[in-house]
Amino acid sequence: MCGIVGYIGNKKAYPVLIKGLSRLEYRGYDSAGIALLENQDKLNVYKRAGKVQDLVDYIGDSSTEGNVGIGHTRWATHGLPNDTNAHPHFSSDGNIMLVHNGIIENYDIIKKELTKRGHSFQTETDTEVLVHLIEEVYKKSGVSIEEAVRTSLNEVHGAYAIAVICKDTPDKIICARKSSPLVIGVGEDEYYVASDATPIVEYTKNVVYLEDEQIAIVDKNNGLRIISIANVEVSPYIQELELQLEELEKGGYEHFMLKEIYEQPRAIHDSFRGRLNASEGWISLGGIKDYEEQIANADRIIIIACGTSWHAGLVGEYYFEDLARIPVEVEYASEFRYRNPVIRKNDVVIAVSQSGETADTMAALKMAKAEGATLLGIVNVVGSSISRITDAGSYTHAGPEIGVASTKAFTTQVTVLAMMAMAIGKKRGTISDKRFNNLLIEMEALPTKIEKLLKSNDYIQGIAEIYKDASNALFLGRGSAFPIALEGALKLKEISYIHAEGYPAAEMKHGPIALIDEEMPVFVIATKGPHYEKVVSNIQEVKARKGKIIAVVTKGDTAVREIADHFIEIPDTDDVLVPILATVPFQLISYHIAVMRECNVDQPRNLAKSVTVE
Ligand code: G6P
Repeated sequence: MCGIVGYIGNKKAYPVLIKGLSRLEYRGYDSAGIALLENQDKLNVYKRAGKVQDLVDYIGDSSTEGNVGIGHTRWATHGLPNDTNAHPHFSSDGNIMLVHNGIIENYDIIKKELTKRGHSFQTETDTEVLVHLIEEVYKKSGVSIEEAVRTSLNEVHGAYAIAVICKDTPDKIICARKSSPLVIGVGEDEYYVASDATPIVEYTKNVVYLEDEQIAIVDKNNGLRIISIANVEVSPYIQELELQLEELEKGGYEHFMLKEIYEQPRAIHDSFRGRLNASEGWISLGGIKDYEEQIANADRIIIIACGTSWHAGLVGEYYFEDLARIPVEVEYASEFRYRNPVIRKNDVVIAVSQSGETADTMAALKMAKAEGATLLGIVNVVGSSISRITDAGSYTHAGPEIGVASTKAFTTQVTVLAMMAMAIGKKRGTISDKRFNNLLIEMEALPTKIEKLLKSNDYIQGIAEIYKDASNALFLGRGSAFPIALEGALKLKEISYIHAEGYPAAEMKHGPIALIDEEMPVFVIATKGPHYEKVVSNIQEVKARKGKIIAVVTKGDTAVREIADHFIEIPDTDDVLVPILATVPFQLISYHIAVMRECNVDQPRNLAKSVTVE
């Protein structure tokens, strides 16, 4: 939700800011803006509704001078996504500029108070109130700009990552964070500020992740200083980035989403590399090693997540119950945190999150922590907030995921959940050696099987062509394939804007069956396994009502082929791992349909990848 970026040094700030904003565009793309400090007298501000490219076109030949600047790409919360509401926002006198990711919850009260004191506001945003508050403190108290920022932040409630520049102090950027991420890149006499490390990686590998309620004073001449909002000095902890620049490029693919679908063999391999060995018969997740006893003895596992990660959690429920025989609840983080849930000390809470920054998931974790539960994370972004608040966990190692619709992040989450459940099942003695060993062999074979599956891309594109104009679609699955039906439907609706629903195949007759007619494509996971016959019956029910069946089947299947309108074969595997393979055809179907419908695949309307507001 919104990306912020800043630069101070000897280079021209403009290209750094624009490139940085493009990298952060996955966080929001309703509007973009930059402020460039040319000198103490000249501050240029450009803001535009639309994408970063619209901003660049708008700036055209205007002055882009200056070695200091801040920028923003917006996902609108307060106020329409128009030019005026775009960031940066500025003080009454135009001397202080601010960009913000988050929400100032008590902005209305502060706005009323400031209005009484003579401030007038140009925008509908909560952010403008904060910059006016800073101005009020700065002018009335005669303190430094950093002290004005600190004092103001003590007055606000909510979430923020901010970067502030002031004409009076052209050698400084002041930034701060609470519940929204912020990273500072430390170069040679230059500094970068950004919502994540992607705008920084090509300039320096040395970064400082700001903690909640910390303020960084980035001073070109005097270096980096960090204080808490309570005014306690903190020594900056510089870490080295592992991120590689090539991971952020499209690498010849038309869209990031397609690249990320194709990266799945590699990503899944990375998610289990060094963590299992089929020929030696072991699984070992270093990150949870010290907590295995606790997990094995947990009364209950609660999986919390949002969006696609929640679907991975649902698959995890099948895994932990089936393989480790531990009761599991899977919760939407946003519901869980406001439900006054019963959390006990002997519960293990697993947060599943690609970004590691989702506000609701973080808040739910904080609540569970306060109740004394053990917290684990299954997170993709190394060093993210969720990875830091949890007691232990396993990274998914999918690599940066830029496409807003999650693909490789999902399949690696499911892979890690399977490994965790197997490791705990082994410890508890709830999984036979035969099954354990067989699963290890199948896990190791996953990358090759996905590679084979991806060879059906052209064939799947042909099916997409047939259904690209559908208005509705239904996705059905049973058992651990049911969450894949949900995920298939989500993928289609979020990138192609076709209304789609996922249902347990047998539930269809309790409502959705009323929608079925000859226009309705019904995507069904009908692989060989314990539910096969039942699913075949469900397919017959759809066919009897003239629905169109696109079935995902196990390679070599003949029975479903005969009744389905189209079939997509996936390689044979253990039923436990079917969710991972069955996901891929749905990703490709959605991708191709979205491209054919000329939708913005990587940046679907109204969405953002990292949801750092509630
Ligand atoms: C957004 C993204 C989804 C993602 C969800 C949860 O809605 O568009 O792709 O699944 O947030 O994000 P997380 O980073 O916690 O997995």
